[in-house]
Amino acid sequence: MGTPIVTISRHIIDMERQFPEATGAFSAILQDIAFAAKLIAREVNMAGLVDILGGTDERNIHGEEVQKLDAWAHDVIFKALDHCGHLACMASEESEEFLPIPDKFRAGKYVLLYDPLDGSSNIEANISIGTIFSIHRKITEGERGTEQDCIQPGRDQVAAGYVVYGSSTMLVYTTGHGVHGFTLDPSIGEFLLSHPDMKIPKPGQRIYSVNEGYYSKWTSGQRAFVDHLKNADGSNPKPFSLRYTGSLVADFHRTLLYGGLFMYPGDSKHAEGKLRLLYEAAPLAFMAEQAGGRASTGEVDIRDVMPVSLHQRIPLYIGSKDCVDLAEEYLKQDVLIEAK
Ligand code: AHG
Ligand code: MN
Ligand code: MN
Repeated sequence: MGTPIVTISRHIIDMERQFPEATGAFSAILQDIAFAAKLIAREVNMAGLVDILGGTDERNIHGEEVQKLDAWAHDVIFKALDHCGHLACMASEESEEFLPIPDKFRAGKYVLLYDPLDGSSNIEANISIGTIFSIHRKITEGERGTEQDCIQPGRDQVAAGYVVYGSSTMLVYTTGHGVHGFTLDPSIGEFLLSHPDMKIPKPGQRIYSVNEGYYSKWTSGQRAFVDHLKNADGSNPKPFSLRYTGSLVADFHRTLLYGGLFMYPGDSKHAEGKLRLLYEAAPLAFMAEQAGGRASTGEVDIRDVMPVSLHQRIPLYIGSKDCVDLAEEYLKQDVLIEAK
């Protein structure tokens, strides 16, 4: 038998032993997230059977229709962690305001930010969807957390991860000591270590991932870059293949395993793109860097961006380092044009 049978609980405890800064609090938070992931996985896998699909006819703060599963997953994660005693507060894509810990529960020294369900538009098509989370330390003095504790640069994350609900359910996380992937064995309800110390392959597969439907709204640099990748301009004897699912977690998971580049650029209608910095781009950037890759806004590292608001959007280029570097080269021409 190859890899020893390691549950996520055992793995987190072993990590805690090796790295004193990962205190028991840390392990408890990660284990509670794994528990919430099991509940969401069960619901996602039943979604076709249980009438929890279809819009809630509510709209979230971004004006997007909230699928029942989004709102439900938001609640599951909050209720699985609000009483753990290790969080000072939380923030979620599905809540305009940050989420204080109810007074009846003890507060702790960490902050959890999360996208409870990523790829919502794919729920009814049975295409993989996911959950993304980011963990910071509380930085304000008070006992209970504030919104300020949620608005921290990606460089200061202490942990990040995602769950992908696909042909199997996987939980992938980093605490700054490598990226580790666990696959849920539903027959025993355990996440088992299946992908220890994940690294983006070098060289990566020649795959680019972007919604080409927005080509007409891209900058000239973005267009030139994609034209190069697919040899539309005759500059690339080994053109890339396009893969795009519309679920960030699924596209990132493939990029982590195969290499290549995922992009969600800004455009003439949305200069900052669509994806959120704090609970989509920053956690995935932490993992990409830990796996030997990179994540950029197209100009600077995602993890160096100083956030100003909870739900701010950011352009995202993430995956194999050489691909992200090349994207930045092409996008420099936009900066030059703007400067004129
Ligand atoms: P969410 O469901 O959390 O709002 O995220 C959806 C995001 C992301 O998962 C995906 O990469 C992107 O939306 C797809 O956007 P387009 O449909 O504009 O390509
Ligand atoms: Mn999302
Ligand atoms: Mn979401």
